[in-house]
Amino acid sequence: MGIPDQGRMGYWAIVRYEDVRRISRDPETFCSGQGTQFADAPPEFLEASMSFLAMDAPRHTKLRGLVSSAFTPRQVARIEEGIRVNAQRIVAEAAPSGGGDFVELIAKRLPLVTISDMIGVPDADRERVVAAADLLVTTSDPEAFGDRQPIEVVGEALWTLTTFATELAAHRQKSPADDLMTALVQAEVDGERLTHAEIAAFFVLLSVAGNDTTRHTTSHAMRALSLNPDQRALLIEDLDERLPAAVEEFVRWASPVMSFRRTTTREVELHGQRLPAGEKVVLFYHSGNRDEQAFEDPWRFDVRRDPNRHLGFGGGGPHYCLGASLARTQLRSIFGELLRVIPDIEAQEPELLRSAFIHGIKRMDCAFRPRA
Ligand code: HEM
Repeated sequence: MGIPDQGRMGYWAIVRYEDVRRISRDPETFCSGQGTQFADAPPEFLEASMSFLAMDAPRHTKLRGLVSSAFTPRQVARIEEGIRVNAQRIVAEAAPSGGGDFVELIAKRLPLVTISDMIGVPDADRERVVAAADLLVTTSDPEAFGDRQPIEVVGEALWTLTTFATELAAHRQKSPADDLMTALVQAEVDGERLTHAEIAAFFVLLSVAGNDTTRHTTSHAMRALSLNPDQRALLIEDLDERLPAAVEEFVRWASPVMSFRRTTTREVELHGQRLPAGEKVVLFYHSGNRDEQAFEDPWRFDVRRDPNRHLGFGGGGPHYCLGASLARTQLRSIFGELLRVIPDIEAQEPELLRSAFIHGIKRMDCAFRPRA
């Protein structure tokens, strides 16, 4: 059904697992270049913040290709040890506290250091960068903008990120390092260097995509483990062996990215419905992840679920999450450490982000026996 969207064109809600997969894998009919959210954002906003997420082939393929080698399972395996050491430090620092806000104490921290290390963001700037990146996806929550206009807050956050990215790029041009920003300033597409605006958009996309998603998955998984002590016990019983499957269930359960949009490039038929060209089609990943035709008892949190080919990272196709290996590695590292060092940690009722895009947890109290 088409639902009115701010007085403009409505959208088609794709809520079944198989349909989300089919549409994700047919970019010629369902494109990304005309927007990835329900509402039509101004083209300048898309360009400044979405980079290749809101592009189609061939440009998408080329730009994604510039950074994709840093995210392959093999490359992520190379940095896994560093991620594990960071996870150990984060849990060790939290252990004496006996509790607090789980998001600040644990969930937020590993994604922040991981993606900042990869891009090459200096320590002193990390919190500021992440705070600005957060604002871009939280403006539907009144807490994010207080008494200001959302557009003003988003504009300011984008400005902070693009200025920062441009300064970092200039610095890396002079003093190259082994990081993604250096790779971007040295990269060429069709014989041309990327513009400052293109580099900044890359930076915004990676900062947003690399932080929120993994953070919220960590929080939702912690809450689910607290509500399902049998599942926690099962996991702890054979932690190393069961963690990889559990992480898939964490992502399915959390579905931190709830939707992305496509636009039809031609007339197409879906379940007997005719969709003209130019229609908005919204993929609801969290709905597909609860589809009883695809998952047995989908509302059961089951750390040993098998098979578990969820849609948390998308339905496949060219836009499939670039950071999937990185996210999995971080989730294994943080929960491996957390459940080994403070297995009694209990999370309380979460405070949810108000959003139709990100299934996020703003705050969530947790408690455990303090360790020296
Ligand atoms: C649990 C954590 C994560 C989840 C659930 C998640 C989910 C998603 C989803 C649903 C998409 C869109 C897929 C599609 O349209 O087919 C996506 C795309 C993307 N993700 Fe992730 N993501 C996660 C972590 C990360 C991390 C750590 C990074 C690292 C930078 C990352 C980078 C990206 C990028 C760059 C794209 C755009 C890919 C493209 O358009 O080609 N993600 N992600």
